[in-house]
Amino acid sequence: MAEPPRTVLISGCSTGIGLELAVQLAQDPRQRFQVVATMRDLGKKGMLEAAAGEALGQTLTVAQLDVCSDESVAQCLSCIQGGEVDVLVNNAGVGLVGPIEGLSLAAMQKVFDTNFFGAVRLVKAVLPGMKKRRQGHIVVVSSVMGLQGVVFNEVYAASKFALEGFFESLAVQLLQFNIFVSLVEPGPVATEFEGKLMEQVSTAEFPGTDPDTLRYFRDSYLPASRELFRNVGQSPQDVVQSSGLRPTGHRQRHRLGQTTPAPTDQRPLLPADRAQSRGPLRRPVCANHPPPALPLAAPPPPWPSMPGLRLPPPPGPAPVSRASPTLPHP
Ligand SMILES: NC(=O)c1ccc[n+]([C@@H]2O[C@H](COP(=O)([O-])OP(=O)(O)OC[C@H]3O[C@@H](n4cnc5c(N)ncnc54)[C@H](OP(=O)(O)O)[C@@H]3O)[C@@H](O)[C@H]2O)c1
Repeated sequence: MAEPPRTVLISGCSTGIGLELAVQLAQDPRQRFQVVATMRDLGKKGMLEAAAGEALGQTLTVAQLDVCSDESVAQCLSCIQGGEVDVLVNNAGVGLVGPIEGLSLAAMQKVFDTNFFGAVRLVKAVLPGMKKRRQGHIVVVSSVMGLQGVVFNEVYAASKFALEGFFESLAVQLLQFNIFVSLVEPGPVATEFEGKLMEQVSTAEFPGTDPDTLRYFRDSYLPASRELFRNVGQSPQDVVQSSGLRPTGHRQRHRLGQTTPAPTDQRPLLPADRAQSRGPLRRPVCANHPPPALPLAAPPPPWPSMPGLRLPPPPGPAPVSRASPTLPHP
């Protein structure tokens, strides 16, 4: 007998990866998912509804959800039949770039409120139900910057590192409840994400930043970043497909550019078979660029950088390396 469809709640579906995932799951030919595609501003639902086509109102419903608001989360869950979420996809996220002296603490806190506490807020809301039913799957759209810091992305990377630490820790105790955690760590993806960042920096003045740093940011970092997105940016479809989030086909594991087909059909978005899962965490890493030069390799790179991001060394002495920390002389 066919299993009843799983309820999948996805945050941040107005554009990009969230929209693509919502549509692909809702259009699953075997109709295994009831997708609750959420966004903070329902005024933006047009693109999602158009992409969903006939799935709209059948296997896909659109709901309002601001991950930064307790009330919004409670209201959204109250509209889901029985309040039961089988699969939670924490996708909503915002970026922030620039020299930190020129960024306000409020802007930094907004990034953490959305990327980190937004995911935590949703997990806290759905976890009791998942534990009671002893089944669930939590998918977290992190970033390659959750694994490696990148210059001028300190706060964004920190928010993704925080997610990684949180979910790696949580995954361990959830195993006994048959609840699985997947971290997806894409490289650059061609969505509105980059455009929003560029718009942000086009008007920002970064007050208090020294001229050398500002010049390096504007003349070296920004053009290199644009080039990176242009040359190696994945599409949201790539991310959904290669991260094992897609409902059909057998899952592949992408680890920083290397594709190793999984030995068996692991049924994405369904709880992993414990025997197939190596540890509590399933971590498909999506990136279509070469592996990063880790700071531990010799000789250390002059500046920790996103794989593929070609930057000239910054002015001044070489930065502190993880392998051999050197303290600046007073
Ligand atoms: N694009 C990349 O290069 C890249 C790379 C690695 C990881 N990621 C991660 O992938 C995820 C999706 O990003 P994307 O590339 O698809 O970017 P996107 O097109 O900008 O989508 C981000 C989504 O998050 C939503 N959002 C922002 N704040 C929210 C809030 N408080 N409550 C609910 N939704 C909120 C946005 O809604 P609005 O339309 O209302 O702003 C939008 O729907 C993010 O977590 C991002 O960090 C992206």
